[in-house]
Amino acid sequence: MLANDTLDRWDREAFLHPSTHLARHARGEAPNRIVATGSGVHIEDRDGQRLLDAFAGLYCVNVGYGRTEIVDAIAAQARELAYYHAYVGHGTEASITLANMVIERAPEQMRKVYFGLGGSDANETNVKLVWYVNNVLGRPEKKKIISRWRGYHGSGLITGSLTGLELFHRQFDLPLDRILHTEAPYFHRRPRAEMTEAEFTAHCAAELEALIEREGADTIGAFIAEPLLGTGGIVPPPAGYWEAIQPILRRHDILLIADEVVTGFGRLGSMFGSTHYGIEPDIITIAKGLTSAYAPLSGSIISDRVWRVLEEGTDRFGPFGHGWTYSAHPIGAAAGIANLKLIDSLGLVDNARDTGAYLNSALADALAGAPHVADIRGEGLLAAVELERDPARRQPFDPAEGVAARVVAAMAARGVIARAMPQGDIIGFAPPLCITRAEVDTVVAATLDALREVSPTL
Ligand SMILES: Cc1ncc(COP(=O)(O)O)c(C=O)c1O
Repeated sequence: MLANDTLDRWDREAFLHPSTHLARHARGEAPNRIVATGSGVHIEDRDGQRLLDAFAGLYCVNVGYGRTEIVDAIAAQARELAYYHAYVGHGTEASITLANMVIERAPEQMRKVYFGLGGSDANETNVKLVWYVNNVLGRPEKKKIISRWRGYHGSGLITGSLTGLELFHRQFDLPLDRILHTEAPYFHRRPRAEMTEAEFTAHCAAELEALIEREGADTIGAFIAEPLLGTGGIVPPPAGYWEAIQPILRRHDILLIADEVVTGFGRLGSMFGSTHYGIEPDIITIAKGLTSAYAPLSGSIISDRVWRVLEEGTDRFGPFGHGWTYSAHPIGAAAGIANLKLIDSLGLVDNARDTGAYLNSALADALAGAPHVADIRGEGLLAAVELERDPARRQPFDPAEGVAARVVAAMAARGVIARAMPQGDIIGFAPPLCITRAEVDTVVAATLDALREVSPTL
């Protein structure tokens, strides 16, 4: 085994990390963590620290670490057939079986699934599907996509444009044209403090409608949204949001893409966020929870309505010119099958609902009224604690102070991983769906302790 200091040196010298302050990392000014093993909700790093991972990696290791059922399925698939492609009608038992399992679990109107590798490329596929559909339907102008500020849909060129977070645009010449953003459904940050939730929902709907009218409905192909804002702050929608938004989209014949990369396969305590909130999408993006990140795999699930246009399109224009070498990779598919079986056999969707309710109420009980705590919110096994300098006046901290990052570091010193969300001082929680109440108690105690340590320094 390599010595830790050799690995540390190579890490600083050779490894360009995603979403990292590259210069500080390279100079050794920022801590790194080299993760060695994982079991259940815990990981262990090379320095021997065992941590409860209350963010499940990047909210993806939904069944928890070290599941031998998935490991064995991957090994068996690799031994039998490590790879075959899916072009021109090819498939494997694993990819075909998984497609069937996904459609069995998806909302009723969904008909077929295209498999990619990660959430970003799946949303890239979705945008191409929307453009293709409108070309086949003879509406070549209907191509713009509306996303929301604070939405997260990936970090490619189009998907980074869809993402509505400053960090992902800055210095990258994004967003590209054809991508528009509308109001984030973020009640805590409503424009006027005296607005009720119903008034704020009406405001979001009016903003969307005004944008569509300004641009012209005949130029807008789709609206993309997470059922619940994830990386933008873990924010459940205000009451009545989806009931207000969907009729506007239908009225203007705008397709709805539900990005369920985080919410798909149980995180909200329902198999899909769409059913949880009564959303009827035309396309659903899936990734993370599809394989619990044991292997890279994503998908675009399309409705019967979209499918019928694709059929017409290939009948008129020939084969569908879209695909990746690794589309429907059999190792990812084998991981997906074993993962979905585990979600069922362990009752993880129910656990997300029950233990998620416990997490959210335990956070509220422990932290309400604690210094600088401005908002505590969540749904299922997703939760967030938002910090402000003066919550009564809704006055934020200066981002340069890195307050949430300091609290998260103090939590890690206590053996619990949470995530400082990228925009605002927001501490995010998204543990594996197998977390127990006792483990939730550990997470909540570490959060309170860390806040008590950091708040006197603010
Ligand atoms: C809602 C959502 N969509 C898309 C993505 C992008 O997925 P990936 O990082 O696998 O490209 C993410 C990643 O966090 C996500 O949360």
